[in-house]
Amino acid sequence: MRIFEELESEVRGYVRAFPAVFDVAKGSYIYDEQDNRYIDFFAGAGSLNYGHNNPLISKALIEYLQRDGIVHALDKATVAKKNFLQKFQDTILTPRNLNYKVQFTGPTGTNAVETALKLARMVKRRSNVIAFTNGYHGLTMGSLAVTGNDFYRDESYGARNNADSVPYDGYLGRDVNTIDYLRKFLSDGSSGVDLPAAIIVETVQGEGGINVASVEWLQELEALCREYDILLIIDDIQMGNGRTGYFFSFERAGIKPDMITVSKSIGGGLPMAILLMRPELDQWRPGEHTGTFRGNNLAFVAATEALSYWDGEDFAEAIKYKGAIMEEELRKIVEKYPSLEIELRGTGMVWGLDIPRNGFSGDVSAECFANKLIIELAGADDQVVKFLPALTIEEDVLREGLAIVDKAIGDLLQRSEDARKGVMT
Ligand SMILES: Cc1ncc(COP(=O)(O)O)c(C=O)c1O
Repeated sequence: MRIFEELESEVRGYVRAFPAVFDVAKGSYIYDEQDNRYIDFFAGAGSLNYGHNNPLISKALIEYLQRDGIVHALDKATVAKKNFLQKFQDTILTPRNLNYKVQFTGPTGTNAVETALKLARMVKRRSNVIAFTNGYHGLTMGSLAVTGNDFYRDESYGARNNADSVPYDGYLGRDVNTIDYLRKFLSDGSSGVDLPAAIIVETVQGEGGINVASVEWLQELEALCREYDILLIIDDIQMGNGRTGYFFSFERAGIKPDMITVSKSIGGGLPMAILLMRPELDQWRPGEHTGTFRGNNLAFVAATEALSYWDGEDFAEAIKYKGAIMEEELRKIVEKYPSLEIELRGTGMVWGLDIPRNGFSGDVSAECFANKLIIELAGADDQVVKFLPALTIEEDVLREGLAIVDKAIGDLLQRSEDARKGVMT
């Protein structure tokens, strides 16, 4: 670890939570340099839905490199890009009756978000954008302006310009319909909220703590956007690519967003991001929004291969099946440890255990790591243990990982009980 501590910036994060030097990875396993094997319930924060070094993807990449397929091509036409676009249209868009143009942005999620916000502002000629409490959209300045958690923001960045934050579904309690609140703000010229160009939203907030918006809420949000001529941007960077059991997370609500940001697993584990937009919104002039790394052909090759998982219904079925196992096993954990007052939230293969006891979730993650499971935290105060395994995880590995979490919670409770008794005697 010496070189990391000496040379790498203090900004480094995950290396502190998971202090090992990793070397090899396959499927849902990661191995460190001492050859210790870890189960991965983090999946590259949602970038590895198809697992580490997925054999189909690796094979396609090796073949492409061996035949000297072009790797960097700016946004020139390439065979790899052609194949990706064709596959995306045939496998994802057409069967879902969706009509979107594809814009290749810089290769990270926040690049796609920046692009969406900029385009919305350009098309609508309005600067304001509305986002939601606990939303996470990335950390470059435009994305940061619509990200909720103040851990990432500082007033001195001046990043809150032209963005308003309003309550997400459930933020004011289950009985309050926050769309009514938003409608009131939009209809009242004295609310202090300007008519926005766009509303940007995650259908399930990932970093924000696994908050699942209801179908009705999403439908009402779409209707509200139509009513006020506001563009609806679904940020599907973490919840897209099958995480919720559908390729796009908004499919469960049957809505049709104006724009969709997609990144993370779209590149099959390699950096890639796209913005999907209704064709009439594609008002860019050639080269008006550019970037050097929009033509990562290795990612196109990987992405095309990854999309073959969506050829039939089997993959979506498997996600639903494994998601049900997760829900069932996690519900057992909630019931087994009532003193912790855990709340379980999630859908598909993304779940969170919200443990209100101060610092306990962090202890669970650390204890799991000691027992060779990598699992991350989410939520405003890192109070949610976040389950984000690869969608391709084998059932027995999934169950093994869930059992490690169960044991970690039990052991931690036992230890704190022993400590309490120790103090008393
Ligand atoms: C919903 C959402 N949007 C945007 C981002 C930013 O993506 P990136 O970290 O690749 O910039 C993330 C990252 O976690 C995300 O979850």
